[in-house]
Amino acid sequence: MAGYEQTYRRSLEDPEGFWGEAARAIAWDVEPKTVFEDGRWFPDGRLNTCFNALDRHVADGRGDQPALIYDSPVTGTLRRFTYEELRGEVARTAGMLQSLGVTEGDTVVIYMPMVPEAVIGMLACARIGAVHSVVFGGFAAPELAARIDHAEPKVILSASCGLEPGRIVEYKPLLDAALDRASHRPDACVILQRPQAEAQLRDGELDWAQTAAKAEETGCVPVAATDPLYILYTSGTTGAPKGIVRDNGGHAVALRWSMGAVYDTHPGEVFWAASDVGWVVGHSYIVYGPLLAGCTTVLYEGKPVGTPDAGAFWRVAADHKVKTLFTAPTAIRAIKKEDPSGRLLRDLPDLRYLFLAGERLDPDTYHWATDLLGVPVIDHWWQTETGWPVAANCMGIEPLQPKPGSPTVPVPGYDVRILDEQGRECPPGVDGAIVVRLPLPPGTLPTLYRDHDRFVQSYLARYPGHYLTGDGGHVDEDGYLFVMGRTDDVINVAGHRLSTGAMEEVLATHPDVAECAVIGVTDQLKGQVPVGYVVLKSGVERAEPDVEAELVALVRDQIGPVAAFKRVRVVSRLPKTRSGKILRATMRAIADGRQYRVPSTIEDPAALEEIERLG
Ligand code: COA
Ligand code: AMP
Repeated sequence: MAGYEQTYRRSLEDPEGFWGEAARAIAWDVEPKTVFEDGRWFPDGRLNTCFNALDRHVADGRGDQPALIYDSPVTGTLRRFTYEELRGEVARTAGMLQSLGVTEGDTVVIYMPMVPEAVIGMLACARIGAVHSVVFGGFAAPELAARIDHAEPKVILSASCGLEPGRIVEYKPLLDAALDRASHRPDACVILQRPQAEAQLRDGELDWAQTAAKAEETGCVPVAATDPLYILYTSGTTGAPKGIVRDNGGHAVALRWSMGAVYDTHPGEVFWAASDVGWVVGHSYIVYGPLLAGCTTVLYEGKPVGTPDAGAFWRVAADHKVKTLFTAPTAIRAIKKEDPSGRLLRDLPDLRYLFLAGERLDPDTYHWATDLLGVPVIDHWWQTETGWPVAANCMGIEPLQPKPGSPTVPVPGYDVRILDEQGRECPPGVDGAIVVRLPLPPGTLPTLYRDHDRFVQSYLARYPGHYLTGDGGHVDEDGYLFVMGRTDDVINVAGHRLSTGAMEEVLATHPDVAECAVIGVTDQLKGQVPVGYVVLKSGVERAEPDVEAELVALVRDQIGPVAAFKRVRVVSRLPKTRSGKILRATMRAIADGRQYRVPSTIEDPAALEEIERLG
């Protein structure tokens, strides 16, 4: 393969030639004659993503190879599915969905813990051309309800419970509460009963095992490359989540290509993304990427620490001969905290790479993991919107010298630029908005579900001709990218993307709260955690711990435990500029104990006083 420079240049100078070639790795029902037109990739191609992920490998002789290894220390379960077995399970589940009236283009919400049925449900949708929308299990009922109302699923797939350290999370009461709240009614809910907590089924709700047992296996339905494969909701700047749409054709081509080019992982090898199917990493690199590439994927139900100990990841990597491990830096920080000397490390002769993404990789964690594992530790940067890496050290093209703190260089296909407020390119070393010149490569979002205007407004309007990533940073003299953080109100808590705006909307509903601001402050383990600053209504005299307890419970009930919202400070006023803008950056700097400059726009002496007091 050509080196990085040459490959990158070709991808930008001749995108149609480049991606047309990559498309040959995919099995098409109708080969695309056009590679790119009117912002869509492979517009006249037809294919089935599930066929490419399963059936074609069985036909190619991989039927007996493990496709999925389910390793669940929290339930003491280990299950292996060969490609043939997984194909059979998916075909039957697809038949079950068809028997419930699901057809091409219908949506199906999947609200499930990390069990094989979650993956099977996703692939079953893909098999019949239905569009899945997976909702992460750590979200509370109102968040689930908002997604149900927006996606309007024909069927919901769920489970009786999930398992978190020290507690069983009953999903069914959360689903019931969401359905009671939502105005949309699905035709059916299918519930996977787990022995740890069986659920009471209501009228119209079906037992997964019984319903699937009655269903017939069904074949793959070819769809247009531009038809949606899934919708994945993610946090934006307001409480309303954004429904990122992923198409079938561009997605299959890009993910298949990324498995070799970025991850250097090939058919028959074992890839483990220690994430959750509720996040984009889970969609792309637990489910679709490894299976499209004919690899074995690992589905791990548990945490990096405490199940049973901080050696859990090394045990799984050793047992399943993992070549490529992908997780979030926060997971490595959690392991480092519990086992700083690496006493629990196993012999890992098969491990070749540790890929990290989801939040900034701090140099300490980078060095610790590199020294411990003795394999390349690769920081790479991407987002739900892009679906696959935007910047990385592409191991399958040409390994470059890493620089701690940088996810290295733009991945072929992404024309990354740094722009200033006026839209001019920033010179090396100068921070600006990180954007990608259009067109975006295949696999990236073509629109937001049922909200094309918001898509244009959120991503394309700020710098015409460019996609706005929402991250800020710079490129150095060698072309290495440095991602410094979000330029909007999105924060990253333990690798989970959350909106502080959404949390503020919740705090504002408390009857005693007059005004509030939620900011992300630096946390040793989780990278960032949200802290709420609230001003109480005049005349309200309440102790801070009581207000805190109520607001913490409110956010947990409305958004979910995943928000990790645990800290509130009652203040007499919020520091603001003359025009009334809350000085969030200043507040963040104070909370982090960093140097800050009082903005010249503040004239109000009381606001200055408040800034001092917050410190
Ligand atoms: N269902 C229900 N609750 C969930 C949940 C789920 N699927 N996932 C998390 N939660 C709950 C947790 O139990 C916790 O609840 P608590 O406040 O009662 O303790 C809360 O949400 C916060 O979870 P989390 O931020 O994950 O903290 P943690 O202390 O449980 O674990 C880490 C910390 C670092 C070990 C863990 O976050 C981790 O492994 N992160 C990796 C992140 C990742 O995979 N990111 C995806 C991008 S690669
Ligand atoms: P998500 O959409 O949940 O994958 O979150 C995407 C966001 O996480 C990005 O916009 C970044 O802010 C952040 N992020 C992801 N990977 C990295 C990385 N390697 N370095 C810095 N920030 C990252």
